[in-house]
Amino acid sequence: MRRPIIAGNWKMYKTPSEAVDFVKRLLEAASTAGGVEVVVAPPFPALMPVREALAGSDIALAAQNMFWEVEGAFTGEVSPVMLAEIGCRYVILGHSERRRYFGETNAGVNRKARAALDRGLVPIVCVGESLAEREFGLTEKVVTAQVEECLAGLAPAAVAVMVVAYEPIWAIGTGRTASPEDAQDACAHIRRLVARLFGPEAAERLRIQYGGSVKPDNTRDLMSRPDIDGALVGGASLKVEGFAGIVRECQKAVQS
Ligand code: 13P
Repeated sequence: MRRPIIAGNWKMYKTPSEAVDFVKRLLEAASTAGGVEVVVAPPFPALMPVREALAGSDIALAAQNMFWEVEGAFTGEVSPVMLAEIGCRYVILGHSERRRYFGETNAGVNRKARAALDRGLVPIVCVGESLAEREFGLTEKVVTAQVEECLAGLAPAAVAVMVVAYEPIWAIGTGRTASPEDAQDACAHIRRLVARLFGPEAAERLRIQYGGSVKPDNTRDLMSRPDIDGALVGGASLKVEGFAGIVRECQKAVQS
C-alpha cells in the first residue's frame, strides 16, 4: 500500500511571518492521522521558521527548487546539503513554472534529482503536457520523454522512494482540473513506463501525485483512483481551510 502524499506548493507566496502563522493554524486544522502524509513547500526564507513551527508534528517540509552542486560560486543558488541540514525532507524539481520562466530542462532536473537523492532528500519530480500538446494527442509522448530523461540512470531503489507529480500545465492555476479519468490514465501510463524502465517493484512503490486546480471538492474522486497517490496543490494550499479540507478528503478516499 502506498501512503498518499498531499503537498502544498506555496510558490512565491507568504513571508516568513505569514508562513509561521499559517502552519500554526494548519496544525490545529489538519491531523495527519488516517495514513496521509502532509507536506508544505514554503519559499526559501520561510523554510527555517516553518521547520521550527512544525517541530514535533508529522507535517514534512519541502523546498521548491535547488541546484545540483554541493557548494561553490553559484550566486543565488541553494544546495541540497543546505536544504537537508535545515530539515527539508522533500524538494520539488522541474515544476512547469521553473521550466517556463527559468529555462529548466529534463537534463537539469535529472542532475538535480541525483544530487538530491545523494544527500538524502526525496525529489518530487514534476511532469505534464501543455494544452497544445494535449490537443495534438501528444500527452503520453511528452510525459514519456520527461520521465525517461528526468529519471535517467537512477537506481530502481531510488526511484521507489521518490515522488512524481503529474501536473498538466493547462490545469495549473486555471480552475480547470483534469477529469479523474484523464488524470488516472496519465498516472497509470507513468507507472507502466517506470515498471518498464526500473522494474515492477520500483513502479509499485513510486508515489504519483496529480496537480492542477485540486480543491477539497474534487479531491476525493481524484484520490480514489488506483494510480493517483496524492496531490501537489498550489492555490488551495494557501488557505488553511482549503488545504486542511483537501487532506481530510484524501483521508476519506483512503478509508473508503
Ligand atoms: P494550482 O493548484 O493552483 O492549480 O497549482 C498547481 C501547482 O502548480 C502545484 O505545483
